[in-house]
Amino acid sequence: MDALKNIIPEMIEEWEEMQDSYYPDRQQLYGFMTSIIPRLTGVEKVLDICTGVGSLSKKILEGLPGANVTGIDFDDIMLEMAKENLKEFEDYFTPVKKNLWEPDWYSDLPGDFDVVVSSYAIHILPENRRQEIYADVCGLLRKGGFFICLDEVKSSLAEFDNICSDALSRFRQGAGNRELSADWSNYWNRVGKKLGSSNYSQELLKTTYPDGTDTMGTLYDQLTLLGQSGFSDVECFYRDLSIAIYGGMKAEEK
Ligand SMILES: C[S@@+](CC[C@H](N)C(=O)[O-])C[C@H]1O[C@@H](n2cnc3c(N)ncnc32)[C@H](O)[C@@H]1O
Repeated sequence: MDALKNIIPEMIEEWEEMQDSYYPDRQQLYGFMTSIIPRLTGVEKVLDICTGVGSLSKKILEGLPGANVTGIDFDDIMLEMAKENLKEFEDYFTPVKKNLWEPDWYSDLPGDFDVVVSSYAIHILPENRRQEIYADVCGLLRKGGFFICLDEVKSSLAEFDNICSDALSRFRQGAGNRELSADWSNYWNRVGKKLGSSNYSQELLKTTYPDGTDTMGTLYDQLTLLGQSGFSDVECFYRDLSIAIYGGMKAEEK
């Protein structure tokens, strides 16, 4: 990690730019999540699943002073970047290494979270693992706590799904976006070079998708799975084509 020390600030900046040109309205949607969280639940303890460079955690800490956020991710580099990105909140942000593929990933996390959030990550997992993770998340929440997830989803209607994915592709190729908007392999290979790896991006893909590629689920199925995993009042808080914010409340009787 020492080899990356000097370039971590520019890696964070570039990551943020690339993510902003990969997902429409990303910053506004983080802001929206931050604005609904206190109205849904008193917020002191927050868990951010797959925190990346801590982008959403940072927005939450800026908008909700005094909250404590635990940010989990399986990637040491992401966690190092998150630490740097949130250094002004070091007393309030705890980065923790956790891999969602491990069955007991949640076992030594503190629990009783008021809210669990995740952004642009849960779609990486296949549907059966996603359902298990929803149940694990429910176990980590206090009664009445909320899970709020911002992610890419599919539509159950094939034609509408095409409309959604076409719109997202157009956004990603759009004139206003950086040339590098989808060039994650370039980014990770440059990082890998510093670590002495010749094809770091491929290695990362294999760890991220041990079962193959993205297996995005429909929004309808995510709401159904949440309902079957101990959540009540499941809700889609926002949807614009392929991008949705959905979640639910941990049922009082759970
Ligand atoms: C597309 S990024 C999203 C990051 C951040 N939430 C955001 O809004 O920019 C996906 C993140 O999920 C993490 N990740 C992927 N698979 C994971 C797994 N099995 N366990 C934990 N983290 C994982 C990656 O390291 C990466 O930081």
